[in-house]
Amino acid sequence: MTITITNIKRVGSDKTESVTIEHGVIKGWNLPEEGQVLDGQGGTVAPALIEPHAHLREPGQTEKEDLASGLAAAAAGGYGTVVSMPNTSPVVDDPAIVRALIEKASGLGFARLKPAAALTRGQQGETLAELGYLKGAGAAMFTDDGRTNENARTLRLGLETAGSLGMIVSVHAEDASLRADGVMNEGPVSEALGLPGNPAAAEAARVARDIEIVAELHAQGRAARLHIQHLSTARALDLVRGAKARGLPVTCEVCPHHLTLTDEALRSFDAIYKVAPPLRTQADADQLLVGLKDGSVDCLATDHAPHTRAEKERDLLDAPSGIAYIELAFPLMYTRFGDALGLEKLVDLFTAAPARVMGWPAPSLDAGAVADLVVLDLATERPVNPAEFKSKAKFTPWAGETLKGWPLLTVVDGKVAYQRS
Ligand code: DOR
Repeated sequence: MTITITNIKRVGSDKTESVTIEHGVIKGWNLPEEGQVLDGQGGTVAPALIEPHAHLREPGQTEKEDLASGLAAAAAGGYGTVVSMPNTSPVVDDPAIVRALIEKASGLGFARLKPAAALTRGQQGETLAELGYLKGAGAAMFTDDGRTNENARTLRLGLETAGSLGMIVSVHAEDASLRADGVMNEGPVSEALGLPGNPAAAEAARVARDIEIVAELHAQGRAARLHIQHLSTARALDLVRGAKARGLPVTCEVCPHHLTLTDEALRSFDAIYKVAPPLRTQADADQLLVGLKDGSVDCLATDHAPHTRAEKERDLLDAPSGIAYIELAFPLMYTRFGDALGLEKLVDLFTAAPARVMGWPAPSLDAGAVADLVVLDLATERPVNPAEFKSKAKFTPWAGETLKGWPLLTVVDGKVAYQRS
């Protein structure tokens, strides 16, 4: 199948061009039109976005999301590839589940799925899962995300084993005993509201511990690679900076929700804002942005975490944690921080940067590259309308907000995975 996309501009260029795609790869630029011709409407073309952290809830939690809804939502958000988290029911700790997920997703025609597998059996944190077999089945990385790795010795063995397989371990870095039953950031706002707080130290202490484990393995010449998920505090970011300065193989991601929302939102008592790690202070959010600019934050990730409306309508103490917004992550970041970061840097944080973290080849729009691309409408402002979401979670903190930078067209493996109607 051949597709020509006309009337598009590459990032950083004012030239109107066209790209031709054939057999799943980019055939070339500005060739004579052939095959299906799609009007890019003057949009900006970039490699399709890469999501290193999303909860698609399959198997077993399909009332919240499933592969079809989650990967369609991702494609609508401009993503070509999604790394799904293994905290499902059952947990993705068995090679047969990894294989089944990849197989099912490949027939859907939306974003490509790269499932993460659990680091430990049942994500219980005690006994390593069969990492070699999981890698062989196609697991993209190992993580017990959703749970914290309380047993440091098991984590060390996991880092060592995964490292010997050339795989990364990514961690939900919170100390469970310090976090305790905190439902929001601990500070003046939690005190004013009388809600149990989750202190910044829960994250910073865990990040410090994990960095020291990597430092030791590194000193022993082991290939361990640690990725810290959804980093939320300035203090933990300083620790990551320090680790990088020591030359340690430590990377981290931040989430748009930690950049754009703070613990002040919890004054609403609305569990839509309950997330783990929690929304922090404006000072933390400001420092995360500094980290994005100076390179101490490696990439962006949404941690798209859908739950049912009924679950999120419970009170703050009982509602599950998680914010779902994979469909609007790029427009949110472009609208809020496009000027501060610049388009080129922002696109990098959503594309090449997560690829670097995952150890994948750099995405490319050159002839011969896999045809994964997105056409972004950087001009038209549109309100966020959750009723239109492809995700099953048809609610979001940004409902009604006017954003620009919406995807017009997402192509994955040379096929149209999303086209705005
Ligand atoms: O808020 C969160 N929700 N954080 C996590 O780490 C897990 C996720 C979920 O699975 O809902």
